[in-house]
Amino acid sequence: MSSISIIGTGNMARTIATLAVAGGNTVEIVGRNQSKAAQLVRDLGGNTSTGDFGAVPAGDIVIVALGYANVVPVVTQYGDALADKVIVDICNPVNAAADGLTTRDGHSIARNVAEQAPAGARVVKAFNTTFGAVLAKGHPMDVLIAGDDEHAKARVAEFIESLKLRPLDVGGLTMAHYLEGTGLIMIGLAQHGVGNFDFALDVTVPS
Ligand SMILES: NC(=O)c1ccc[n+]([C@@H]2O[C@H](COP(=O)([O-])OP(=O)(O)OC[C@H]3O[C@@H](n4cnc5c(N)ncnc54)[C@H](OP(=O)(O)O)[C@@H]3O)[C@@H](O)[C@H]2O)c1
Repeated sequence: MSSISIIGTGNMARTIATLAVAGGNTVEIVGRNQSKAAQLVRDLGGNTSTGDFGAVPAGDIVIVALGYANVVPVVTQYGDALADKVIVDICNPVNAAADGLTTRDGHSIARNVAEQAPAGARVVKAFNTTFGAVLAKGHPMDVLIAGDDEHAKARVAEFIESLKLRPLDVGGLTMAHYLEGTGLIMIGLAQHGVGNFDFALDVTVPS
C-alpha cells in the first residue's frame, strides 16, 4: 500500500482520496483552506489526516489536484518541500473554449512541473484521461501514465492498482503533451459526440 498526499480539496481530490482509502492507502489531504481539508478528512474516514499547505507532505507520492493555473505556482511555492517526492500531475490545461491547450506547442503542464520541481523529485502524469464522475462510480477503467523515471512510474502504477484500476504506461514525460491532448479530446467528446461526461477511455486488446 502507498502513502500519498493530495494537494487540493476539490472534485478530483475527493474522488481519488475516496478510492485510495478504500484501497487501504494512507492519505494526507492538504488544502489552502484548512477547514475544507478537515471536512474532507472527516468524510473520508480510514487512515487519513490533514497536512499544512506548503509544508513537507507526509506522503511519498504527492498528487497535485488543482486547476491548471495553480499547478505550477503551487509546485514552485512548495520548492524543496517536494524534494525526493513522486509528484503526480493530473491536470488538463484546457482553454476556456475547450478547443485547445493553454500550454505552448509540444509542451505540457507536466513538463512545466518537472522544470520547477526540486532535486530528487520525479514527475508522473496520470489520471487526466479519467473523468472524476466515472472514477467515483468505481468503474474499472484504464489510467494512462507517462514519466521519465521507471521506478516512479512503477510506484504510481502500484498505487493505481490498489484503486482497482489498470495503469497503462504510454512512455516518457514527453508523452504528457499527448496525454493532455487526449484529455482535450475527451472533453470534446463529452461536449459533442458522446454528449455527456459519463464515459471512459479504455484500451481493448483483441484476442
Ligand atoms: N474533474 C475531472 O473530472 C477531472 C478529470 C481529469 C483531470 N482533472 C484535473 O484535475 C484538476 C483538479 O480538477 P477538479 O475538478 O478537482 O477541480 P476543483 O474541484 O475546482 O478543485 C480545485 C482545487 O484547487 C484549489 N485551488 C484553487 N486555487 C488555488 C490556489 N491558488 N492555491 C491552492 N489551491 C487552489 C481549490 O481550493 P478551494 O476549494 O480552496 O478553492 C480546490 O481544492 C484540474 O487540473 C483538472 O484539469 C479533472
